[in-house]
Amino acid sequence: MREREAARVDGGAAMLDLGASHDFGDDDLAAVAEVLRSGHVGMGPRTAAFERAFARRHGVAHAVTCSSGTAAMHVCIGALDPEPGSEIIVTPWTSGGSIIGALLHNCVPVFADVDDTYTLDPADVEARITPRTRAIMAVHLFGNPCDVDALRAIADRHGLALIEDCAQAHFAASRGRVVGSLGDLAGFSFGGKHLSAGGGGAVLTNDQRLWERAVLFRDAALPRANGPLEGRPYANYFLAPNYKINDLTAAVLRTQLGKVDGYVANKIRAAEAVIDGLADMDELTPQRVRPGDRHTYWVLGFTLDTGTLGCSAAAFAAAAVRKGVPLGGPYIGSGDAGPLYRNPFLAGPHCYGTSRYPFDAGRGAPLDYTQVECPRGEDIMGRGVSLQMTPNMSGAVIEAVVAAIRQTAAEFLAQRRGFA
Ligand SMILES: Cc1ncc(COP(=O)(O)O)c(C=O)c1O
Repeated sequence: MREREAARVDGGAAMLDLGASHDFGDDDLAAVAEVLRSGHVGMGPRTAAFERAFARRHGVAHAVTCSSGTAAMHVCIGALDPEPGSEIIVTPWTSGGSIIGALLHNCVPVFADVDDTYTLDPADVEARITPRTRAIMAVHLFGNPCDVDALRAIADRHGLALIEDCAQAHFAASRGRVVGSLGDLAGFSFGGKHLSAGGGGAVLTNDQRLWERAVLFRDAALPRANGPLEGRPYANYFLAPNYKINDLTAAVLRTQLGKVDGYVANKIRAAEAVIDGLADMDELTPQRVRPGDRHTYWVLGFTLDTGTLGCSAAAFAAAAVRKGVPLGGPYIGSGDAGPLYRNPFLAGPHCYGTSRYPFDAGRGAPLDYTQVECPRGEDIMGRGVSLQMTPNMSGAVIEAVVAAIRQTAAEFLAQRRGFA
């Protein structure tokens, strides 16, 4: 079936089928049925069991599930309990979900530049620290670990928290240590990532005090049984949302946790095969992985030599799509929207009414995102194309992807030579 679809790409008619992103089977169905039959679908024993298993897989003391990756990143901030106007240093090339929680918590994202790993440049992070800085958020973009050791050292030197955003990087590893176990707190998304139940998220921490605050923060700071405030009179003890998941989601996450190693291994195998197939092409450079790190390829990214190709990354991606390869253009956003600091929610007054809050909290003039620049990232990421990986890419599909990308590049090069 896949071979047939791969062959049809040559005719330009069909989009290549990269295969299912997850293998949901009878075991998942049985787990959900068991929860439904129990009559207790809310957050309960299956959630607790998944939290224990997820924490154990990371060698971390505590896991706190929540309703999405965006919620997880908010729980990380809520656990830190920062003052309004506190600054969080983060990459501008990430999902808005990395920072939405920080904004809802009246914090101010401060953007630092990235390098050819598409992750934070530690030197630029350190240069952007101010007396207001509270945390560094290390986003392991596409599944590629940040330079965690360097960021940890900077955080320790300046008394800052290190938060990992592992939404895209399940079971990636920095020098042999699984991501999510390396920061003070780490957030995960289960919405279509390696481990998925169609939604959900989790926070990991080894810190007892942060765990207590995280548990309360995802559940309206209520005094639940077995929780940090057990036995207190019923009340909301501080301002916090309801970000709980339920046992239906947790049951699927538990069965999927048994399959995720296979997904990750297959994505790595497929990504390395595509990279190998394009290795002789100087016009495409894959996202750099630091020596000793394990990239788990939620997405496979390349930076194009757009000068030699004579086209923009968006035009290259569009041409590959016409050949049936679902290549994406520059991340995040494209054209004028570009990096997060160009997105309307930061560049315009679109947080709290017409105010510039929280960007003016505790400072004379509000931080003006239209003035922010991360030149290296704008160059590298502006020339980026990416392929969403699946664990079910056959050898024929991988070959078809490589052939279509090579053909796309060849056509742009020929066109350019024709005009030269
Ligand atoms: C790096 C990163 N952080 C946070 C999020 C937010 O996760 P969710 O979509 O589950 O809210 C995403 C989502 O894609 C993400 O890629």
